[in-house]
Amino acid sequence: MSTTYRSAGLARRTDSLTSSAIRDLLALTARDDVIGLAGGLPATDLIPVDRIAAAAEAVLRRPDAVQYCETSGHRSLRGVIAARESLVRGGAPVPVESVIVTHGSQQALTLLAQALIDPGAVVVVDEPAYTGALQVFSIAEASIESIPITDTGMDTDELERRLTAGLRPVVVHTVANFHNPRGVTMSEQRRRHLAALADRYGFWVIEDDPYGEIYFDTTEFGIGAPPPIACHSDRVIRLSSASKILAPTLRVGWFVAPPSVCGAVELLKQGADLCGSSMTQSMAAEMLADTPWLDAHLDVLRREYACRATALTSALVAEFGDRLSVSRPAGGMFAWATFLDGTDTGELLDAALDHGVAFVPGTAFATGAQYRHSLRLSFAGSTPTVLAEAVRRLGSAHSASTRAT
Ligand SMILES: Cc1ncc(COP(=O)(O)O)c(C=O)c1O
Repeated sequence: MSTTYRSAGLARRTDSLTSSAIRDLLALTARDDVIGLAGGLPATDLIPVDRIAAAAEAVLRRPDAVQYCETSGHRSLRGVIAARESLVRGGAPVPVESVIVTHGSQQALTLLAQALIDPGAVVVVDEPAYTGALQVFSIAEASIESIPITDTGMDTDELERRLTAGLRPVVVHTVANFHNPRGVTMSEQRRRHLAALADRYGFWVIEDDPYGEIYFDTTEFGIGAPPPIACHSDRVIRLSSASKILAPTLRVGWFVAPPSVCGAVELLKQGADLCGSSMTQSMAAEMLADTPWLDAHLDVLRREYACRATALTSALVAEFGDRLSVSRPAGGMFAWATFLDGTDTGELLDAALDHGVAFVPGTAFATGAQYRHSLRLSFAGSTPTVLAEAVRRLGSAHSASTRAT
């Protein structure tokens, strides 16, 4: 182990800190002349700023919205989340006490890692994985193992084989709905299988679900996603967020978990930040409880994102033909593509930036050296016209980098 931290006067855990490849890339690509398909940012033009302003105006007149609140979250928001979670679970009761509100769902991941993972403990992630989860689990000094994602979600048969062979994770993290970065959704059968494995082997499942509400009305795939994994086991901790459906700036995320987990996280959160923002939590509560408005807003998001997804994937198919295999997103914000002509997407990125377009190379989502030929493209933040131009630029970059080699 390196001892850089000692000479710098820092704690040992800082030695394993690495920056998120995507956040570094975002800093590099924040140029006006670059079309950004790299970040997982929701569309700025679809963020409901007028409704957010009205919610701010309304809650600022309430004394409780300008004060500290309970560490576990503002009671009004926990109540709204419990009711919505109960709906998603087909009416199964979800007590308010089982909901903890966090500073975005990223903080939920961090606090859960502190509560559940000792240094060296095994954590299983998707392969490819959400980079933010990889970062959290590596800070927690977990031993990270990965299980491939298939077209129907994490390969739970492979997980079962590994468990039978002796793998003993304390946590399995998966993005079951409209996966980041692969875009796929876990089948009901795999959900039941994963829940049964959690019960049999005694690990926690973190079901990370910021994208479940953003489903497209495509006859090809059916609409929406199967019921949450949490419907099938008490060992599932379900995370979600207001970032993608309302606005990231609210920094409102949450999880639903059994009392032992909520109790531990509450104590960790007391130490971390005392409590979240009563103001943005009250605003989120007001907007999430305004069902007619929220339903109409989600309809707009779903329609517009579906249209953007189709614009991006059909432009990619037209530009690259059979040199590129492209996913067909049924929801969420991402398309995943793999070059079949040997193109290295890490190298392509340099040419792409020169031509004014950014994406995330597949290696950013790998636990090893996989996905050199793959890339993640976010369709959420750009209009169909801009997406068509982005793909034209990507095509020119690809031709230029192919000529150069
Ligand atoms: C799978 C997944 N989980 C969690 C997050 C964190 O989101 P937030 O902290 O804004 O709720 C993201 C953000 O992109 C994500 O893609």
